[in-house]
Amino acid sequence: MATELPGIHTDNYRFLREHVYARTGIVLDEGKHYLFETRLLPIVRELGLASINDLCFLLRKSGATEVSRQVAEAMTTNETYFFRDPCQYEAIRTILLPRLIKVNENTRTLRFWSAASSTGQEAYSLAMLLLEEGLGSWKIRIVGTDFCSAALERARRGSYQQIEVNRGLPAPMLVRYFRRSGVNWQLNDTVRRMVDFEIGDLRDSMQTMGPFDLVFCRNVLIYFDSETKRKIVGELHGTLVRGGWLLLGGAESVFEIDEWFERETVGSATVYVAR
Ligand SMILES: C[S@@+](CC[C@H](N)C(=O)[O-])C[C@H]1O[C@@H](n2cnc3c(N)ncnc32)[C@H](O)[C@@H]1O
Repeated sequence: MATELPGIHTDNYRFLREHVYARTGIVLDEGKHYLFETRLLPIVRELGLASINDLCFLLRKSGATEVSRQVAEAMTTNETYFFRDPCQYEAIRTILLPRLIKVNENTRTLRFWSAASSTGQEAYSLAMLLLEEGLGSWKIRIVGTDFCSAALERARRGSYQQIEVNRGLPAPMLVRYFRRSGVNWQLNDTVRRMVDFEIGDLRDSMQTMGPFDLVFCRNVLIYFDSETKRKIVGELHGTLVRGGWLLLGGAESVFEIDEWFERETVGSATVYVAR
């Protein structure tokens, strides 16, 4: 018989983990009750339900598509900030951009992808870096994709709280590219227009994406099992030009990546160069 764990019945806990895995690919280990509770209680309240167990009953009974999506989205971790892992941006500035400028002199076109862009800081950091490097007149396409529609909505607005601009964004860039808007900071239209945000699940086929000169896929593979990781890395490779860069999170490493990428150390950053 199922034992009762604080708040969530054991079988409901299993059901929720399976639900999140099926919808997002995210593997949540045993012992993450607190995480489900903090993330799902707002949905429980919004729906006027009494508990997470009632929410599970609703999900099981009707399949409740909208609620099912909401639950999956609530379990994603959207943590991000401007110029996260600065050494990677430094590698882009000093090594990749000079190379790309030379190779693409004729078309003056550059293409980038922030896969798992969350609330947009990664894609916008790159856009600002490109402007700082004098590439404002080039045809630049930056695509940001994420599974989480709420995060993408925020990314599109380009409006950030004081605490968010305090994290990683150099003060001169705040002055140059943002203006005060009430208690928030609004990113200017020049930077916003450089990035298109779209819904995207990394587990889907990427055949229509690319070709890109650089893909960020940072701090997201850690949530997947090794089979999913491998599939995603292979697909990402297919979206890059030969010699294009894949950047993973600073603390991430992926086994079996060598089939598609060559690891290179640039300053303090590790970059994966498409074979
Ligand atoms: C921790 S954030 C990383 C944000 C940014 N890349 C960074 O490194 O700062 C992880 C993001 O991955 C997204 N995500 C999780 N599962 C996903 C999936 N299957 N497909 C696309 N995005 C996913 C989440 O919604 C979340 O916004």
